[in-house]
Amino acid sequence: MRQRAETIATLELGSSKVVITVADVGPEGISVRGVGIAPANDCLREGNIVNLAGLVQAINTAKLEAENMAGYTIGDVYASVSGSHVYGVTSSAMTNLKHGKVLDSDVRDVLSNATVISLPPNQRVVDIYPLSYSVDGIQNIDNPMEMSGKRLDVDAHLVTASGSAIDNMSKCAARAGLRVVKTVSSALASALAVLHDEEREIGAAVLDFGAGLCELTIWEAQGLVYTAVIPVGGHNITEDIAIGLSTPIAVAEELKVTQGHAYNTSHTNGTTIQVRGAGGRGTYNYDINNLYSIIEERVSYIFSHVYSQLVNYGRKDFLPGGLVLTGGASKMPGLIDAADEVLNMNARIGFPRDVKELSTILNDPAMATSYGLLVCAGMRYNTDIPRAKLPGGPPQQRGLLKEIVRKVKGFTV
Ligand SMILES: Nc1ncnc2c1ncn2[C@@H]1O[C@H](COP(=O)(O)OP(=O)(O)OP(=O)(O)O)[C@@H](O)[C@H]1O
Ligand SMILES: [Mg+2]
Repeated sequence: MRQRAETIATLELGSSKVVITVADVGPEGISVRGVGIAPANDCLREGNIVNLAGLVQAINTAKLEAENMAGYTIGDVYASVSGSHVYGVTSSAMTNLKHGKVLDSDVRDVLSNATVISLPPNQRVVDIYPLSYSVDGIQNIDNPMEMSGKRLDVDAHLVTASGSAIDNMSKCAARAGLRVVKTVSSALASALAVLHDEEREIGAAVLDFGAGLCELTIWEAQGLVYTAVIPVGGHNITEDIAIGLSTPIAVAEELKVTQGHAYNTSHTNGTTIQVRGAGGRGTYNYDINNLYSIIEERVSYIFSHVYSQLVNYGRKDFLPGGLVLTGGASKMPGLIDAADEVLNMNARIGFPRDVKELSTILNDPAMATSYGLLVCAGMRYNTDIPRAKLPGGPPQQRGLLKEIVRKVKGFTV
């Protein structure tokens, strides 16, 4: 029987903005009905919540806007998880096949076993990305379902995050009347929104260049193989400009967005910019190269951290699919040249793919995470992707829910 579309709502808490979307997701793809965006007003730093009450207000504003646009009352949400505490690990696990062939329950078991890894206290698994399966030693199986055998093995990439950060995010959502029913790392969501299969198949990296964070994922033919977060972003560029040109943050932000460039090839012919000094000090003239060099320096610093992560993964010189830059800060002119210079990688800017409705809002690299949450929700309707290869959440969430239900009913565990 053909599956019907369902209505999904998403919540993204970024360092610079809160985004809520409402969309119908089903076999026909994603049809976005409403989007609400509110400034995060410094309630998050490096993606970490630092002001609960302020964030609840921002969520309420975005929620109202999205609900009005969609004509839909939002209850449950898919939420993205980000922050300096997010990182990925690779895990392997096995299970014995009790029925002589691979069933859904065996895939669930082996993926659940893959989450049993040693993590720092309070660090939780957010995403389980199955990479490949083996049945009785036959390796590199994408879809093991129904295969005969005695033993199923899996290699999976796990994205982990601070449990307290996830709890705080859910708490803010709850205070705005939203229930987080699924969490997805924003690193994974953004990549799902912008990366082409053609790039993934030959090996590629995605960098979501946000306000407080850079979220890096590395992809190979089998899927997501590496996740790292660098706690620096576009806001650091703004702060550098404010300090370097002795100007207020708001002026620095505007200068960056309207006149910034990350790779100055010195064709500026002595162009000057007028910059208002802080605290009523009047206006100063600067050579625009001053602005460019401040930006270049910070971008080089950020890319040098990306370089270290690529080296850490061990594929620095062999990602033929190149680098996809997304996130709001990827809109800075000159970034592609800077990536070429510092990383020696062929980069492009990643916009959310296949956006149909509300493209004036969604066709923007800053919307990659939110659109990616919808892509993630829609993957289970894509019959080309085997069920066993769908990225999922940890089984503990279901266990926890059952536990709560049991306790409410008065049973002890
Ligand atoms: N045209 C532009 N040029 C340069 N930077 C830009 C431009 N437009 C937006 N930005 C920067 O992009 C950043 C916001 O990006 P984005 O919306 O992806 O961040 P976020 O998701 O809220 O934050 P994070 O992911 O770090 O938690 C800000 O630092 C902003 O200054
Ligand atoms: Mg972001």
